[in-house]
Amino acid sequence: MTQWPLHGRIDGPIVMIGFGSIGRGTLPLIERHFDFDRSRFVVIDPDDSQRALLDERGLRFEKVALTRENYREILTPLLTQGGGQGFCANLSVDTSSLDIMELSRELGTLYIDTVVEPWPGFYFDKSMGAGARTNYALRETILEARRRKPGGSTAVSCCGANPGMVSWFVKQALMNLAQDLGLQHQDPQTRTDWAQLAQRLGVKGIHIAERDTQRARHPKPQNVFVNTWSVEGFLSEGMQPAELGWGTHEKWQPANVGLHDKGCGAAIYINQPGANTRVRSWTPTAQAQFGFLVTHNEAISISDYLTLRNDKNEAIYRPTCHYAYHPCNDAVLSLHEMFGRAGQMQEEHHILSETEIVDGIDELGVLLFGHEKNAYWYGSQLSVEETRRIAPYQNATGLQVTSAVLAGMVWALENPQVGIVEADEMDFRRCLEVQLPYLGPVIGAYTDWTPLTDRPGFFPEDIDATDPWQFRNILVR
Ligand SMILES: NC(=O)c1ccc[n+]([C@@H]2O[C@H](COP(=O)([O-])OP(=O)(O)OC[C@H]3O[C@@H](n4cnc5c(N)ncnc54)[C@H](O)[C@@H]3O)[C@@H](O)[C@H]2O)c1
Repeated sequence: MTQWPLHGRIDGPIVMIGFGSIGRGTLPLIERHFDFDRSRFVVIDPDDSQRALLDERGLRFEKVALTRENYREILTPLLTQGGGQGFCANLSVDTSSLDIMELSRELGTLYIDTVVEPWPGFYFDKSMGAGARTNYALRETILEARRRKPGGSTAVSCCGANPGMVSWFVKQALMNLAQDLGLQHQDPQTRTDWAQLAQRLGVKGIHIAERDTQRARHPKPQNVFVNTWSVEGFLSEGMQPAELGWGTHEKWQPANVGLHDKGCGAAIYINQPGANTRVRSWTPTAQAQFGFLVTHNEAISISDYLTLRNDKNEAIYRPTCHYAYHPCNDAVLSLHEMFGRAGQMQEEHHILSETEIVDGIDELGVLLFGHEKNAYWYGSQLSVEETRRIAPYQNATGLQVTSAVLAGMVWALENPQVGIVEADEMDFRRCLEVQLPYLGPVIGAYTDWTPLTDRPGFFPEDIDATDPWQFRNILVR
């Protein structure tokens, strides 16, 4: 695309918190698609190693770490100076999404983030129980903030690739499946409509099924954690308990399951780190593969969104939903190294830039399973080569995230007074329309594969042969 569309005008200041891999990749998309006053754009990050990118553009940079103590004082003038409705894009680690979101709403500023991030300390606090360190607990704080103060200026929670874009993929995949199965239905408008459609289609579960085949020019050195996006972010979520939206069709639970006694009730967790929990899944390139059941906000929000309840408020339909992530090979090796020494993390972290990657794609989609056509994967197969052609400063993984941030920002600008929303509640058609030019091939593929394919092999296994799509068959034990 040579003529990039202008999606709107941001008439107040823009504050970007965090200038890591996602911040740097989002910057050129903001410049390309929004009209804004460049003198009121500011980036905040305690690390100034990448500031040359801002200096060469004449954009302001504040070298500071936001903390619980200083965030109000630093952000309030930045988000309000000069009038107009500002935009806060929180793309950092180690800052509280909830606190910054609430401040933005207090100031009438639009807000977006890609994860519910806490202040430092939360992820590695051994005195907190596992249940308190879940994404379920983090998400409940956002839902509670919404109940406390409904409406008001729009704050988009968790709008990256996943969480984020995959919620839009789920809706598109449900529509495609309905069409392919010849199911007559109205265009779903409400949460109940979507849940009824998923139920009628017989969808038992959804994997966020990802295979990152991006290959580095140089092999991973010993004692370095290598990844295609935030190592810090991946380590934090990878050491949280494995967590999943829990479907109403499930007949078995792992012995070390953890349950929540408050909140939406849509998810369970397992008392072991997600990045050391393997599940069987499928993507078009990999075909059958192991993925890691790393906890993610969308596993809970999608299951929650698609829940149907009876008049006693009991869940009568809910799909299981979880991440099944095969990160780039270097990240798999990094995890193997780390868990081999009881979770002792590597001191050195490295995010592969687009120039260090020889080839590969990030194949990221949703696998809807258990229906009449068995399983259907719908998603993006963005390559690093295409990424280099269409957007600077990022690899394929980054562009899937930053283009979702762009879509979320466009949607927020077009819907500036709807309060706190999750990706599941946004207009998936509009968001995908904005994002599609950045996603490479977006395809749908059916498969006959099930988690019981070719099993049991040489050894006896504890499987449920009556229903291949039980979590009992998916979890590697
Ligand atoms: N939803 C998704 O699809 C998705 C995908 C990738 C990343 N993410 C999330 O996006 C965030 C950014 O990812 P990334 O790959 O750019 O990470 P990164 O590690 O490359 O960058 C994070 C940046 O935050 C800065 N930072 C740290 N403490 C800060 C503080 N107190 N105040 C301000 N800035 C601070 C760091 O210096 C760093 O530059 C992470 O939270 C990550 O989990 C979400």
